Amino acid sequence: MELKKVINNVKNLGSKAIAVVGDIREEEIQNKIVATAKEKYRRIDVLVNNAGLGKAAEFVNQLDEDIDTMIDTNLKALIKMTRKVLPIMLNNNNGHIINISTSLVFMPNKIFSVYIATKAAVKNFSDSIRREMKKHGIEVTTAFPGPYSTHFHEVAGFKNASFKCFEVVRLVDELVKIILMPKAELIVPYSYNPLMKILKLLPFVKNLVIMKIERLMDLQLKKDRSIKTAP
Ligand SMILES: NC(=O)c1ccc[n+]([C@@H]2O[C@H](COP(=O)([O-])OP(=O)(O)OC[C@H]3O[C@@H](n4cnc5c(N)ncnc54)[C@H](OP(=O)(O)O)[C@@H]3O)[C@@H](O)[C@H]2O)c1
Repeated sequence: MELKKVINNVKNLGSKAIAVVGDIREEEIQNKIVATAKEKYRRIDVLVNNAGLGKAAEFVNQLDEDIDTMIDTNLKALIKMTRKVLPIMLNNNNGHIINISTSLVFMPNKIFSVYIATKAAVKNFSDSIRREMKKHGIEVTTAFPGPYSTHFHEVAGFKNASFKCFEVVRLVDELVKIILMPKAELIVPYSYNPLMKILKLLPFVKNLVIMKIERLMDLQLKKDRSIKTAP
């Protein structure tokens, strides 16, 4: 339903859009996405590896199933999609890979250890292939979003999250700008840029910020657990 709405919105703006529905962890779906794009448009200019999720839990309580889901979706599928699309871009001597990480990689905390591990790996993978792709004129961007209002927090396990989130449409605007004017890293919202610099320079401030994030998330998880749902 949401996908149909997106397609209609894009079409109403005068562009073309198609959707391939499926689990990005499955190789068959990965192949279908690439084949469909090739068949319809003959080329792939931009790949945005966006599909992803985090499951909030302290590491000792994290379910094995959730560990697999996060690694397979956030990292393995992203690497596989990149591997499948790059030959097409190399053939055209043109292309742009945008990998979605998270600003939490600069604030590693105890509630999202596995999620952050996958997203830190996304950063390092992007940094490495950027070096390889430079001579071919293919751009590689890592995006580090702050908290945006999507289904992320609900999927993470926060039932009634009251965190301050930014409007996701503003993140989308910044991603479009990155396609027009590529750069290696995008930290959004922009107000997070000085904060990230401070965290890098001042470890004690970083520790305080992380403690605050952990406290907020702990409180939210406790609040959610205490809410009785109707039978
Ligand atoms: N929102 C934030 O605060 C925030 C901050 C930093 C980074 N991020 C990152 O931003 C990206 C987008 O997340 P979001 O915030 O937009 O959350 P979201 O509203 O939960 O969207 C996640 C998207 O990923 C898709 N997805 C998840 N697993 C999939 C799978 N196995 N196969 C195919 N599609 C799958 C979901 O599809 P379905 O709806 O069909 O499940 C959904 O479209 C993620 O990589 C996330 O880690 C989000």
